[in-house]
Amino acid sequence: MINELSYVGFRSPNYLEWEAFGQDIIGAELVAPGSDGAVRLRFDEVNYRLAIHPGIRDELAYAGWGANTEEELVSYVARLRAAGVDVIEGDSELRAERQVAAIAWFVDPFGLRQELSWGKYATPTTFRSPRGVRAFVTGDQGLGHVVFVVPDLQEAHEFYTKVMGFKYSDEIASPTATFRFYHVNGRHHSLAIVAVPGMVGCNHVMLEVADFDDLGKAIDLCVKNGVDILRSLGRHTNDKMLSFYVATPSSIQIEYGYGGFVVDDETWVARTYESPTVWGHARSARAVSNPPGIVVPVESLKVGA
Ligand SMILES: [Fe+2]
Repeated sequence: MINELSYVGFRSPNYLEWEAFGQDIIGAELVAPGSDGAVRLRFDEVNYRLAIHPGIRDELAYAGWGANTEEELVSYVARLRAAGVDVIEGDSELRAERQVAAIAWFVDPFGLRQELSWGKYATPTTFRSPRGVRAFVTGDQGLGHVVFVVPDLQEAHEFYTKVMGFKYSDEIASPTATFRFYHVNGRHHSLAIVAVPGMVGCNHVMLEVADFDDLGKAIDLCVKNGVDILRSLGRHTNDKMLSFYVATPSSIQIEYGYGGFVVDDETWVARTYESPTVWGHARSARAVSNPPGIVVPVESLKVGA
């Protein structure tokens, strides 16, 4: 099985602006660029977990799902193939680019590229946040979570649970949108999905800091530097995360969180919530008028446009 959201990649014409944004606001460490000039950011001992590649438009390039061991990756790929998924083995060039021991990938039914790997390269004790973030919560909970925009909620639910094996956490059915949440480790969700008919993409990526003050300082830095806060500080109903949502140089949003709930599969009981928030998370005028993250018509991905 897969055990974590290991890394995420985007493409954007504004990719170079992520050098300053990633360091000064997020507090991630800038590392050497990819072969295409991609801006790469580091959050822990893993050499990098977020890459923003050059591109002609904003889009999710790939979500990278990690298996704990070679054996688990091999059996997971076999499981996907048995379910009819066309999984492609990554070559040495892709392995070197992603800095993993082995990699395979496929395009899901909605046009999103899903990468599968194990053995991500790491350099212990060398993470240094340029703005003094003490630590990001990663380890056995992976990078954080990613929220896909899919054209059909039920079809996506079937694929991500029955084919990819994500475990259902819960659902938020609010008057404006229904989200479903899935876990692959203790983190309440590594994946969430929300349906927008005819569209596909990525709503946001969540990064979690280990110290609440590092979240508070991020809010101060956004205000000081004129970076738009799209949702104010608030607490989510399901994962209990305290977080705010920040606009990035691209159309993807970052949820910057603290104190997320950890799921124990032995005792977990799925609930349904009618609101995403206990309090806060008020949307700014820009958040109300902008598209929900990076979204493109589903047909534009299926024809490879
Ligand atoms: Fe989130």
